[in-house]
Amino acid sequence: MSFASPEQRQAFIAGIPKAELHLHIEGSLEPEMMFALAQRNAIDIPFASAEEVRKAYAFSNLQDFLDIYYQGMNVLRTEEDFYDLTMAYFRRIHADNAIHAEIFFDPQGHTERGVAFSIAIDGILRALDDAQSGLNISSQLIMCFLRHLSEEDALATLEKATPYLDRIAGVGLDSSELGHPPSKFTKAFAKAKALGLKAVAHAGEEGPPDYVWEALDVLKIERMDHGNRSLEDPRLVERLRDNQMTLTVCPLSNLSLCVVNDLRDHPLKKMLDLGLRATVNSDDPSYFGGYLNDNYEATASALDLDKDDIVALAKNSFRGSFLDEEAISRSLRDIDDYVARFDG
Ligand code: ADE
Ligand code: ZN
Repeated sequence: MSFASPEQRQAFIAGIPKAELHLHIEGSLEPEMMFALAQRNAIDIPFASAEEVRKAYAFSNLQDFLDIYYQGMNVLRTEEDFYDLTMAYFRRIHADNAIHAEIFFDPQGHTERGVAFSIAIDGILRALDDAQSGLNISSQLIMCFLRHLSEEDALATLEKATPYLDRIAGVGLDSSELGHPPSKFTKAFAKAKALGLKAVAHAGEEGPPDYVWEALDVLKIERMDHGNRSLEDPRLVERLRDNQMTLTVCPLSNLSLCVVNDLRDHPLKKMLDLGLRATVNSDDPSYFGGYLNDNYEATASALDLDKDDIVALAKNSFRGSFLDEEAISRSLRDIDDYVARFDG
């Protein structure tokens, strides 16, 4: 069913319960917080103002962004910094009616510059606990390996995570995709799975369909991050559809990193029409110009998504989550109740 007006669409999107499944916590560092933390930690940053930082956020590809993203996280030094960063994200998505989030963090981005694994994860975990008790947002933590680094480095990071395995839901794979196929991390993912962790991986953002196949068949992932380029391979589409593999799609990220040149060309609607389990996510909201509802709203407007599409996307965000069956069913019922009330 289509919306009576853009305002009605906006209100529907704003209120529907939803989950975020693709969010790099370091990518939620707003320029204002970057300045505040630089001051608190007496770190020089090469910008004069938050506006100047925002002006520097013009990217032509993934690597352009990653260079600035790794530079930005340099202000994160203490447990308090990681706590403040993570709490700010939760407060922000609370306003978007997100009730669950599965959050990536990049430990190697911190240990590489001398910040201990425990400092980063202790601050993040404390915020996860406070978001549950104070905001009623449930969450899980996914530890990503940086794919431009070696598999040995990934294995050493997995070792560092040993004391935290009961608080880490899974492992992921991010950073520069081209030239770093999923199969580079076969052993690290096998080890993580043997430890009882779930597995996800970025694939098909810039990389070819072969990388998506590898993520499925070699890394044996449970969820696909991005996956846009899967649509180039009809056999792969069939496989993703038959397995109801969740795709964590990030529209404003795709626009910022020139994965698509115009949101009107974004494949999200096509994915839904093909029967794929697509979801909407923000990726690195402070760098790409929008949080969760901004991503829903921008794609709904560009692709003329109707109410059924929005409901499907919100439901998929729970179906594709690592919540237990009971929590998923409850959230799906909450969505049905919301729709009935909204129509009512
Ligand atoms: N790290 C943070 N955001 C990323 C993205 N969109 N792709 C790959 N690595 C990332
Ligand atoms: Zn990402």
